[in-house]
Amino acid sequence: MSSIKLTSLNPRFSEVQYAVRGELAIKAEKYVVQLKDHPTSHGLPFDKVVFTNIGNPQQRGLDQEPITFPRQVAALTEWPALAEKVIGLGVFPDDVVERARELEKEIGSIGAYSQSQGASFIRKNVAKFIEERDGYPASADNIFLTGGASAGVSLMISMLISSPKSGLLIPIPQYPLYTASLTQHGGLAIPYYLDESSAWSTSPQSVRAALEKARNEGIEPKALVVINPGNPTGSVLTKEVILELIDLAEKNNLVILADEVYQANIHHPTAQFISFKKLVREANSPVPLVSFHSISKGVTGECGRRGGYFECTNFPEDVLALIYKMISVGLCPPLGGQIGVDCMVRPPKPGSPSYPLWKKETDATHKALAERTKLIAERLNALPGVSCVDSPGALYLFPRIYFTKKAVEKAKEAGKTPDTFYALALLDETGICVVPGDGFGQVEGQNHYRLTCLCAGVEEYVGKLEKFHRGFMAKYAD
Ligand SMILES: Cc1ncc(COP(=O)(O)O)c(C=O)c1O
Repeated sequence: MSSIKLTSLNPRFSEVQYAVRGELAIKAEKYVVQLKDHPTSHGLPFDKVVFTNIGNPQQRGLDQEPITFPRQVAALTEWPALAEKVIGLGVFPDDVVERARELEKEIGSIGAYSQSQGASFIRKNVAKFIEERDGYPASADNIFLTGGASAGVSLMISMLISSPKSGLLIPIPQYPLYTASLTQHGGLAIPYYLDESSAWSTSPQSVRAALEKARNEGIEPKALVVINPGNPTGSVLTKEVILELIDLAEKNNLVILADEVYQANIHHPTAQFISFKKLVREANSPVPLVSFHSISKGVTGECGRRGGYFECTNFPEDVLALIYKMISVGLCPPLGGQIGVDCMVRPPKPGSPSYPLWKKETDATHKALAERTKLIAERLNALPGVSCVDSPGALYLFPRIYFTKKAVEKAKEAGKTPDTFYALALLDETGICVVPGDGFGQVEGQNHYRLTCLCAGVEEYVGKLEKFHRGFMAKYAD
């Protein structure tokens, strides 16, 4: 018998739930293998799996092309001798060669550990980016480069949970990294509900109510999590709401964890991203704030390179030193990801050789995302038993489905929630993989699913969704 068994391990690991890579995604991966191993005899009613379950733009099947500039810089920083071999051949634009040489001079070989906090040269560039974005000073000392935003979020949550009664206010629906990290580190989720009837807006009043309820239950609220633009909702916070949330956090001694990884993904002309950092400074608030950003989203979509950062605002020196100590245990974030962050915060400038192509590529990706989001929302809204808030930001839609009693009963018989039952049937019939709403949290009794708007060939894919939905509703009509 094995000396390692589940019952002898940290029980919190078994309790962690992460639906984005859960039951549906695991089944979809099996279908991929089945299709590959038996191309002519797979016996499935579809010949490809469409992964719309995760915001992973370059994933096979979605095929968002990488932006050329960061990849060229990555190529030359991987193998600096390449720059010398191809110089004058017109393979790499001059500004790419210059950038790669500068990075090599400043940070040395990417095969070496950098400073634990991330290379100081890149942190300074991040600080300049934040200053230009917000119009307020930023310091490289307060910036920590990370292996994706997830690593920073998990670190912050583990630091804030000081007792089993520690809780974090989290939006519902939420990106399940938050509930998963809370479970792993033994903290409690204090849910505040976003309002679907007003485009998934955040009401500071509902945050206050959640806070009061938690206190009455003996929970000690430590932080307020905000995801802006939202995942899975795509909603974008207004200046008024952000200022109210800052005030609320200040008055209640909360740290704000502002997940701003979708800050570049705004696709409604009326929506505008405003950072929490800018408004904390504008309000002259002493509230401690951690702001997260990533190279996984935006238009770069470099999820696999694992790059991101967080900036601490209004943090005392001893707490910064504690964070530094903890991240130094992990030695340093991946250098490839750090270089990705540098390219994100220092894209080609107008007039530079790489600018025209960079502009063309980034504009095309923004445009495609905006068009697909609009089209999918319109088509979903035209279906019986579906309502879908058109999302102004991020990469997703979170449609609500109104199931018949019969569908709910059948789901129960199958031992599934109705939205999981629906999502499994969708996958089995069409190869389209979505994530059931219960993975993100939703008002009890409601049902949703999340899909990304990243899929090329959107007409074909929406057509399949529509056909499936009509068939499902007819099959389970009351
Ligand atoms: C809201 C939100 N925060 C953080 C992350 C994690 O991103 P990263 O790849 O940078 O770890 C994601 C990924 O989907 C996300 O949606």
